[in-house]
Amino acid sequence: MPTSPKALAFLGSMERIEDTLQQVERSLRDQLSSESELVGSIGEHVLGSGGKRVRPALLILTAELCGYTGPRRVHMAAAVELLHTATLLHDDVIDLATTRRGQAAANAIWGNRRAVLMGDFLLARASTMIVEDGDLDILWIFSDTIRGMAEGEILQMQRSFDAGVSESHYFEVIDRKSAVLLAAACHAGAILAGVTRAERRRIADFGREVGLAFQLRDDALDYSAGVEELGKRPHTDVREGKVTLPLLLTLKRCAPAEREVVTSLLKTAARRASDPAGSQSPEETLSHVELKPLLDLVARYRGVEDTVRRAREHADRAARELAPFPDGPSKEALLQAAEFAVARAG
Ligand code: IPE
Ligand code: IPE
Ligand code: MG
Ligand code: MG
Repeated sequence: MPTSPKALAFLGSMERIEDTLQQVERSLRDQLSSESELVGSIGEHVLGSGGKRVRPALLILTAELCGYTGPRRVHMAAAVELLHTATLLHDDVIDLATTRRGQAAANAIWGNRRAVLMGDFLLARASTMIVEDGDLDILWIFSDTIRGMAEGEILQMQRSFDAGVSESHYFEVIDRKSAVLLAAACHAGAILAGVTRAERRRIADFGREVGLAFQLRDDALDYSAGVEELGKRPHTDVREGKVTLPLLLTLKRCAPAEREVVTSLLKTAARRASDPAGSQSPEETLSHVELKPLLDLVARYRGVEDTVRRAREHADRAARELAPFPDGPSKEALLQAAEFAVARAG
């Protein structure tokens, strides 16, 4: 799935806020100072590995849309990205991932223990930045976001390798583990601008819908994109035990014998993942050959196409939230961000 020209427009519009994003980069680097050299090395690895900076861009653009273009945006955008980076460090430990952004994941280089501690370090740095800014509403939103993301990961883990999960469980997981952070980034932008509570709500809902579209697309890409576009290995979701929407839709539509193929593969993957003698890396829970029948079923029952269609519905809802706000370059860029969420290739 190539990135569509409309989705690319968002990356183009990030150039318009390039100066502010550069300031965010400097602010991020400033947070890495520590007595420990290791903090600097892991920090450089994770901050220098080419994240898209979607969340800082959303915060900067929503603040601008609501009428704020001052310096607090830079620190808040950096705090959001630090929080995101911390959750990725933790996520790769939880998911036993070996690659991230086309490079070895931090846990694969430095081990789980150091990767977790570095995540904690970045979380603490993000909290300090928010406390220094001093806005209690933003602090409240961030604390609630951290809680929500942890809960999302726990909910997902509780039902891993389970073919019986419902769509509503899936949506609860993706809402918490990723949409809440995009919602928080946008919400903070609106708070900086001091708009009304109703306007804040709309902006936060915009972020949440973009976040749902973004994670749905991510879950579709796991089945349809190659390692080059993803920067991480394809087909890892099912190997990690995640029954995401492409597979859920397939399970809902397929015949009982086909369902049995999927459930027995999930059982095999679960057994291998918990085998203390194995390396427990998701790449080893199911080989490509073993996975092939499941991938064929997802293709036959249009799991990927319909997941992208659902992503599109959320992106459209996001766009509708912005209707009452003034037209102009920031609104245009935010509409492009919603498009990017659903049509990105990686
Ligand atoms: C990755 O987010 C985690 C998900 C919510 C799917 P991004 O795709 O924004 O990650 P980077 O920061 O650009 O690598
Ligand atoms: C994405 O989790 C959300 C968080 C990082 C908390 P995933 O496990 O689905 O994302 P990737 O595939 O590792 O980026
Ligand atoms: Mg993961
Ligand atoms: Mg995960």
